[in-house]
Amino acid sequence: MQEKPLKKYRLDALERAISYQKDDALQQAWQIFHKELVKAKYAHNFFWLGVPIIQAPQDLQASQEIIWEVKPDLIIETGIAYGGSLVFSASMLAILEVCGEIEKGDVIGIDIDIRPHNRKAILAHPLSRKITMFEGSSIDDEIIARVREFAKAKERVFVCLDSNHTHEHVLAELRAYAPLVSIGSYIMVGDTGIAGSARGNNI
Ligand SMILES: C[S@@+](CC[C@H](N)C(=O)[O-])C[C@H]1O[C@@H](n2cnc3c(N)ncnc32)[C@H](O)[C@@H]1O
Repeated sequence: MQEKPLKKYRLDALERAISYQKDDALQQAWQIFHKELVKAKYAHNFFWLGVPIIQAPQDLQASQEIIWEVKPDLIIETGIAYGGSLVFSASMLAILEVCGEIEKGDVIGIDIDIRPHNRKAILAHPLSRKITMFEGSSIDDEIIARVREFAKAKERVFVCLDSNHTHEHVLAELRAYAPLVSIGSYIMVGDTGIAGSARGNNI
């Protein structure tokens, strides 16, 4: 009885989202809004379970929907910064565990420069037991080999790229990490919204 209305709700939402692409007024308003948000460093205003997370809340909503759909047992993230997105992913995996959807979830974070105070805060977080950090460039062969080794024991892998956003770097990351993505899962590229902005040269 419940299934049909919910299916319709889902389809309506999808159709509305697709229709936004042809809505010139909405597209223009969004472009202006987004440009101003980047200028105002809006994404730097948020915390996930107490840890700074450099994400727009709408992107976190999208991530949550993907993670619930895919039910990964490994999330690989490039770009740690303060660690908020690692803690976000760890919390989603903990929810999947509590709901009996996965047995054990892990998050791998890779950053070229893990500041000691950030590492300390991440390790002190109650969800740190789900997090493994690798320091080095995400496109370094040794780092990629370590990630591949870790991923061998996993069934469903989801990847988020949020490190150096230049075209060349993201392309190299896609080449390195796309083969690890499980069938039916995704590789998500962060910050594509800043392409074309003053900060977005070569992005
Ligand atoms: C936008 S921040 C990451 C934000 C984090 N994902 C979050 O949501 O809170 C980008 C991070 O990428 C790291 N980074 C830059 N170049 C990198 C590279 N070649 N390999 C790995 N990390 C890199 C920077 O040190 C920085 O911490």
